[in-house]
Amino acid sequence: MRYLTVALAKGRLADKGMALFERIGIGCEEMKDKSSRKLIFVNEELKMRFFLAKANDVPTYVEYGAADLGIVGKDTLLEEGRKLYEVLDLGMGRCRMCVCGPEEARERLQHHELIRVATKYPHIAKDYFYNKKYQTVEIIKLNGSIELAPIVGLADVIVDIVETGSTLKENGLVILEEVCGLSARMVVNQVSMKRENERISQVIKGLQKIVREE
Ligand code: PRP
Repeated sequence: MRYLTVALAKGRLADKGMALFERIGIGCEEMKDKSSRKLIFVNEELKMRFFLAKANDVPTYVEYGAADLGIVGKDTLLEEGRKLYEVLDLGMGRCRMCVCGPEEARERLQHHELIRVATKYPHIAKDYFYNKKYQTVEIIKLNGSIELAPIVGLADVIVDIVETGSTLKENGLVILEEVCGLSARMVVNQVSMKRENERISQVIKGLQKIVREE
């Protein structure tokens, strides 16, 4: 039997994702050793392999079939736009993609002025402003701590993830518009879905049951 390989987005989602797998009897002891520098973890008995990757790379591994399955946030899926099947909303990691900024930016935003938008998600921001709002903006790609941008005058607003809202609050920013809701998703390689249909369907069904119960 060939290995079924699962790519997990590093960080909070990976731990939560593994906890879900454990609940359907798919554990991976090797993965629990946090001091390990190993990159791939195997469950020989079930012929499953797991690896952690940067969130943005998970859809790439899955599209190319280097991973059969993946667990990754909807934000990353929207941003990367890869060809794969999104099969399950895992219901965890719920948050929202929002346009945020200082209250003073609200008017400029509403009047369709040519504003500057800082974001880690240029595709999502572009799609929102150009295709949904028919608004021309200048998009500036950043790689983290996006909330800094309006504070230091790099941009008027940001497009970023809001979970509890505390980062915004502590930095004097507010939600100005909501782009979309987000959560963790399970994705599947399109060829694997056919070739390994039985095993993959079993995994999906198991996880679906747990997710529904919650
Ligand atoms: C994310 C996001 C916000 C924050 C939102 O950043 O970009 O900054 O979390 O969470 P909150 O609403 O609960 O405060 P993350 O911690 O992933 O790091 P980053 O700044 O490097 O993107």
